[in-house]
Amino acid sequence: MAGLNEIRSKFLEFFRAEDHEVVASGPLVPNNDPTLLFTNAGMVPFKNVFTGQEKRPYVRAASSQKCVRAGGKHNDLDNVGYTVRHHTFFEMLGNFSFGDYYKAEAIEFAWQLITKEFALPESRLMVTIYEDDDEAHGLWKKISGLSDDKIVRLGAKSNFWQMGDTGPCGPNSEIFYDHGDKIPGGPPGSPDEDGDRFIEIWNLVFMQYEQHEDGSRTGLPKPSIDTGMGLERIAAVLQGTHDNYATDLMRALIVASAEASKSDPDGPHAVSHRVIADHLRSSSFLLADGVMPSNEGRGYVLRRIMRRAMRHAQLVGVAEPLMWRLVPALVRQMGDAYPELRRAEPLVTETLKLEETRFRETLTRGLKLLDEEIEKQQGKGVLPGDVAFKLYDTYGFPLDLTQDALRSRGMSVDQTGFDTAMAKQRQDARAAWSGSGEKATEAVWFELREKNGATEFLGYETETAEGKIVAIIVDGQPVEEITAGTGAAIIANQTPFYAESGGQVGDSGVLFTPAGAEFPVADTAKKLGDMHVHIGTLARGTLKVGDIVEMKVDSALRTATRANHSATHLVHEALRRVLGPHVTQKGSMVGPERLRFDFSHPKPMTADEIAEVETIVNRVIRQNAEVSTRLMTPEQAIEAGALALFGEKYGAEVRVLAMGLDENNDNGIYSVELCGGTHVRRVGDIAIFKIVSEGAVASGIRRIEALTGEGARRYLIEQERIAKEAAGALKISPEDLPARVVSLMEERKRLERELSDVKKKLAMGGGSGGPSLDAPVQEIGGVKLVARKLDGVNPKDLRGLVDDAKKQIGSGVVAFVTVSEDGKGAVATGVTADLTSRFNAVELVKAAAAAMGGAGGGGRPDMAQAGGPDGAKAEAALDAVRAAVGELAGAA
Ligand code: SER
Repeated sequence: MAGLNEIRSKFLEFFRAEDHEVVASGPLVPNNDPTLLFTNAGMVPFKNVFTGQEKRPYVRAASSQKCVRAGGKHNDLDNVGYTVRHHTFFEMLGNFSFGDYYKAEAIEFAWQLITKEFALPESRLMVTIYEDDDEAHGLWKKISGLSDDKIVRLGAKSNFWQMGDTGPCGPNSEIFYDHGDKIPGGPPGSPDEDGDRFIEIWNLVFMQYEQHEDGSRTGLPKPSIDTGMGLERIAAVLQGTHDNYATDLMRALIVASAEASKSDPDGPHAVSHRVIADHLRSSSFLLADGVMPSNEGRGYVLRRIMRRAMRHAQLVGVAEPLMWRLVPALVRQMGDAYPELRRAEPLVTETLKLEETRFRETLTRGLKLLDEEIEKQQGKGVLPGDVAFKLYDTYGFPLDLTQDALRSRGMSVDQTGFDTAMAKQRQDARAAWSGSGEKATEAVWFELREKNGATEFLGYETETAEGKIVAIIVDGQPVEEITAGTGAAIIANQTPFYAESGGQVGDSGVLFTPAGAEFPVADTAKKLGDMHVHIGTLARGTLKVGDIVEMKVDSALRTATRANHSATHLVHEALRRVLGPHVTQKGSMVGPERLRFDFSHPKPMTADEIAEVETIVNRVIRQNAEVSTRLMTPEQAIEAGALALFGEKYGAEVRVLAMGLDENNDNGIYSVELCGGTHVRRVGDIAIFKIVSEGAVASGIRRIEALTGEGARRYLIEQERIAKEAAGALKISPEDLPARVVSLMEERKRLERELSDVKKKLAMGGGSGGPSLDAPVQEIGGVKLVARKLDGVNPKDLRGLVDDAKKQIGSGVVAFVTVSEDGKGAVATGVTADLTSRFNAVELVKAAAAAMGGAGGGGRPDMAQAGGPDGAKAEAALDAVRAAVGELAGAA
């Protein structure tokens, strides 16, 4: 008996041998289709290939696609556990032709595979076709030899397949397997076709058309093929059971659940074990594809699935969280076929554990309340809506969980009452915000948020996606449509664009439609915490609310930003190691060009410290370890050693980034930090880290700016060029630059000194023998006076010269004036000690300065200095000194 993994391989190998490209499953969150909640069929990743919008290097493909049908249109959640074939998660095997082969080959392949490879007896098989598809009828007859009564014609309801409201579609043909008359049920098209006897195992869709939003249908570029075979169903058939939950893989999970809860897999809790097995698969695969439990959108569907399973775990009677303990069993079963599951195992385990731990805090009390209320209803069969709402609001019971709990008692919920209670709560919330002034200016965002909910952010997983426009805002007002040239803010239901937060800049890129609209996104902002607003000006075409747009983040900029953001985590830790644990982040700015990191530290970093930080960061980069993201409560994260970030508001759950390896740390990890930003996959993607500046931003707060990757490489090349150019000018090699610069500086100082001496000598009129005072000594009233204008002397040398002159004359008064290059005058006066009772150098210098338009003058009675703006009056300044000396000498 072939196991499920083997059946999957057989299918894919069969088509590989028929020249099909075996393509890995696409993600559960379809980034190419905003109208779908989750990927729900094998053809979803190929949607744009069928319509011709996207080209691939192959025209035949085969895949085993992960699918989720929960929430949204195809919602199987409520039935799971109670039936033999409903799943929230299943695998769809399919072969596809993109304009290559058509009906004949598709039927031929299918018949070959099931009758030869899988060896199903022909007597058990029958098919349905679209009512007027004579071609398919003829082909089935010819290829399979089935009799006419086993080729049933049915209408569009069952035999025309359509992906959703829009997208590729066409007539189909379904292959049925008859489980035999021990099982109740009739053939397709009969009144009791819903029984479990005749089971559809394979759907062959003859894709011909594309369905558009306006209801019209156009032809595909070429007729194509899309087939879908539920792996669980075919496995059941091949394993001789009509119950999908009895197949090897599902059974292994059910047994794991029973063992972990020490209960009987087939006993009174059989339904619960089925629910747990199914929901374990959908929850784990959704988590692995980046969906996180939340209170909205996809995250809320995930939460509903998880909590439904967790309630059943509680019903089984286990006291501790159960789901996370089953993850290894799931990974054992499916980790080879889906490596992403193995990669995400820690994340899946921790998220399940966290969700169940928290939910259990209210689950018991909620169930108690529910029991009391059921008691009160006394067999009325309907639970009041406000009670269901209280369970939802206070105890975290999604509505379908309450419904599931009532199901076994034959009761339902008053849905209208529930909706009314929900609407009232929204109303109250609106009343609360519309009152406050600051918030009122942002009223437009509150209204949009309430109407459309949060934006689903896909940007951790992908840089391109399709989104449906839910709002366009021009000048603060919502509009329906914009034309080229209009500046606008656009909100879509989902987006790969990161909106500015946590120091990381918003993404730029472009939104466009096949119809020719092009909206370059200059920036992406976040409103009310979870609405991503794309800001730009429509360059071409028109855009309206409801349009589906291709959304493409500028990948080069995002890649550079990722590297810079991850580097801030590494540098944060390195700073703590080099400077000490007092270092905490005080802010950061991360863009594609550079990163800025502010931190607390009381003094400038030394060159050695900077170099050491760079060395540590670059060493971690070279480890090239994978970066891991996990989800925790903020408390758990901080307990796990995560560094909390400045200015971030943390929700109930936070993303925790682990980067680099460090065997000296208990957890083996170099850096653990809370962060909602986008990061590199491996630290090696940062490539190089270079600090380019370090300085103060405020008292006790330092800032470093740094570069990574290509930016750092360019910077280093530029530094090299500068060094080479400098060395080239000196005709030496760059290595000799530092020594040469030092020696040049010393030489320059020496030369300056020499030059100054020479100038002084020249000014004093002397030759090589030292200053000489031959000519200029005057005598006024018996007092020697030297008063001269000295050309080319630096004003700061004047005092020294005055001193020299005082020594030479022994007793007397000295006044020297000089004029600097900019035309200002400077004067210094000196009085020998024996004369200071008669002459005051300060008075004299003031008189001289006044002559040159100066007002001040300072010093001591024996030596003073001053200046004036008008150097041309130097002689007048000297005259002023002469006159003053004459007056005082005469007076003596
Ligand atoms: N798209 C079809 C289905 O989902 C066949 O793959 O049934």
